[in-house]
Amino acid sequence: MKFGHFDDKNREYVIETPRTPYPWINYLGTQGFFSLISNTAGGYSFYKDARLRRITRYRYNNVPIDMGGRYFYINDNGTIWNPGWSPVKTELDSYECRHGMGYTIIKGKKNDLKAEVTFFVPQDYDGEVQQVVLTNEGSAPKTFKFWSFAEWCLWDAQDDCTNFQRNFSTGRVEIKDSTIYHKTEYRDRRNHFAFYYVNDKIDGYDTDRDSFIGLYNGFHNPQAVLDGKCTNSLADGWSPIASHYKEITLKAGESKTLVFILGYVEMPQDKKFEADGKTINKEKALAMMEKYNTPEKFAAGMAELRAYWDKLLGILNVNTPEDKVNRMVNIWNQYQCMVTFNLSRSASYFESGIGRGMGFRDSNQDILGFVHQIPDRARERLIDIASTQLEDGGCYHQYQPLTKKGNADIGGDFSDDPLWMILSVSSYIKETGDWSILDEKVPYDNDESKAKSMLDHLTVSFYHIVNNLGPHGLPLAMRADWNDCINLSCFSDTPGESFQTYTNPKFKKEGGYSKIAESVFVAALFTYVGPAFVGILNHLGKKKDAAKAQKEIDKMKKVMMASAWDGNWFMRAYDANGQKMGSKECQEGQIFIEPQGFAIMSDVGKEEGTAKKTLAAIDERLNTKHGLVLNNPAFSKYYIQYGEISTYPGGYKENAGIFTHNNAWIICAAAYAGEGDQAFKYYSEIAPAYTEETSDIHKTEPYVYGQMIGGKDAGSDVGQTGKNFGQGKNSWLTGTAAWNMVAISQYILGIQPDFDGLKVDPSIPASWDGFTATRLFRGARYNITIKNPSHVCKGVKSMIVDGQPVEGCVVPFVEGKKEVNVEITLG
Ligand code: GLC
Ligand code: GLC
Repeated sequence: MKFGHFDDKNREYVIETPRTPYPWINYLGTQGFFSLISNTAGGYSFYKDARLRRITRYRYNNVPIDMGGRYFYINDNGTIWNPGWSPVKTELDSYECRHGMGYTIIKGKKNDLKAEVTFFVPQDYDGEVQQVVLTNEGSAPKTFKFWSFAEWCLWDAQDDCTNFQRNFSTGRVEIKDSTIYHKTEYRDRRNHFAFYYVNDKIDGYDTDRDSFIGLYNGFHNPQAVLDGKCTNSLADGWSPIASHYKEITLKAGESKTLVFILGYVEMPQDKKFEADGKTINKEKALAMMEKYNTPEKFAAGMAELRAYWDKLLGILNVNTPEDKVNRMVNIWNQYQCMVTFNLSRSASYFESGIGRGMGFRDSNQDILGFVHQIPDRARERLIDIASTQLEDGGCYHQYQPLTKKGNADIGGDFSDDPLWMILSVSSYIKETGDWSILDEKVPYDNDESKAKSMLDHLTVSFYHIVNNLGPHGLPLAMRADWNDCINLSCFSDTPGESFQTYTNPKFKKEGGYSKIAESVFVAALFTYVGPAFVGILNHLGKKKDAAKAQKEIDKMKKVMMASAWDGNWFMRAYDANGQKMGSKECQEGQIFIEPQGFAIMSDVGKEEGTAKKTLAAIDERLNTKHGLVLNNPAFSKYYIQYGEISTYPGGYKENAGIFTHNNAWIICAAAYAGEGDQAFKYYSEIAPAYTEETSDIHKTEPYVYGQMIGGKDAGSDVGQTGKNFGQGKNSWLTGTAAWNMVAISQYILGIQPDFDGLKVDPSIPASWDGFTATRLFRGARYNITIKNPSHVCKGVKSMIVDGQPVEGCVVPFVEGKKEVNVEITLG
């Protein structure tokens, strides 16, 4: 069942009912000011840091769901409603929500009164601008009452929802003309305030929540709206809000447009106040209001936003036989990659904005998805990340976006972290041809005196693996590898111990983690990423270093075949007792998804036909109609030697959930192995546009990936196996966005930047006649045509570049060319 439709021409998803199976959200903002907005206008705003500069309040885990947002209330002669249906939830005569690229439009109509509200955050602007167009579509004049509403958060979102003994007595506001200023703590230690403005005269206001809503009422029945007035309340402690009140009369057919601005302002210490030393100096705020205070200025801001997205989405454009692929690649997957670039894992409807900083592995992988769109910012991000690395190649697992420093509370010793950096830096070079990044002096542990070249960072990353091998010669698992929930050094039996940060004291004298537990996943990732490091060394003419590194890769592959090949797939690990994990010998968790894809793409055991066997096992044991589960069979009890993975009921999260992130690795691997049909099958099982038809089951947004989909074992814990199978969770902020972008564009469609040029080596469904694509790459536009007359999945039979035949499938890079025509025939 669908709840809306794609409008590809406008790059929008159009939601046709407010009763979506879960709030379906969008993000506004790309630089400093961000808003989350649901299809009923729920959500919140923050400036840069979702924890420390929360501007409006939101209640996670609330009943009913999605309470708190920017609401407009209408009281039309006793009929009370909101343009976005919620929170009053009066049945509307019509409703529509359009989530577009960085903006959302919500339209509601009731009793011939139409309200159309457009929300966006302009470029280079610290505020959310909202345009409300009210139209009387009836044949008689209409008089009604209108309120805006926003609830201020007292800045620190964590403190705001815990420290009530203080916070109920600190709230402060100021009102001038049609603007309500929120200035809690501005008098003392803060240099910032927020405001809510409307470009028209108002008939009153409220700034105290209880006066507006009533202590025992809710967002759905604010007392002021019920009474058809406002109280001109002045918040003094308790919960400050901002609500404008206006009485409006419209003739038949007449429209009225109001522009509201929710802004954030920082002031220099000596300019905070007017001469009286207490009134806010509004200079900067007024200039911000001036910038968008008319519908014309509003439209210009929207046009600028559109141009920004035209440019970003103009870099890669494909035209395949599948509309759903086109809309994922050309619009939504790229959009999601940019949102993950901006937000990392901080704020979504599943991430509260007060938890995690920037993950070392997460941020490196995210680069893969957006490096073609914003290479300069990718470069900057790479240097930020590398600056938190430690001299021995180890990494802080997270760093804080405000300080850009490694987070000591979480610490390091996650075995996979260093490898992702080799992958992201090499992807950056492949995209841009900018080898100079390797010479960049980058600190270790944020200490400038320890700065060395980026190449040095990659070298210590590579050797961090080589220098930390276990008894079989496989990489030590340490605290965890990519799977944060396989905690082989944890052995936790005490509630509250964090699986991510706790390691059992029994490993203390060994350096904090088991020197027995080994990760086959890290081994496979090493053999996949290693060749990029060797490629870099070769390019730099460091042949000896390259040969030395290559030897380590070859050795690792041998070790994997000797100690980690289980006959039909690769094992997952050796635990701290030296026992196999992810083997047919195990009772539960016999096969895991993670190592398989990278092992296949590294040709580990190629002579023995490992790829074919592994892909067959994956298809048989892990695949479902909703995607590939992470492991099988699911764990049905707590295994103290494995940790968090076995705490989830079967079918959820890392315990046999469909973890879409690593589905992409298998899609890549199947494509690599020439199984284009199999790759595409897995792609279409999880790609949001394909799940649209079953949105009632899938629940989360049909335009973006979520981290997880309930696996085939979901419900097994309560004897109802299959319950919640196919149900999405944790949408938006996930490495799935980047990896599926890689899977579809670089592996299936096969357009893959390489050190020496653009490689084009598709692995598509055999039924396709071909496809076309345009790709901006290092300053030139590549017009690519793929023909598939013999209906194969993979194999470049001939390549013609600008009329000339070229051997192989890499279009050699020629400096200065502006346009390149590539014609490929498969066969
Ligand atoms: C989450 C984390 C990521 C981890 C994955 C598997 O997505 O952000 O770092 O690799 O879960 O546990
Ligand atoms: C939990 C989650 C995992 C995530 C981790 C991040 O372990 O299950 O997905 O990566 O927390 O801290």
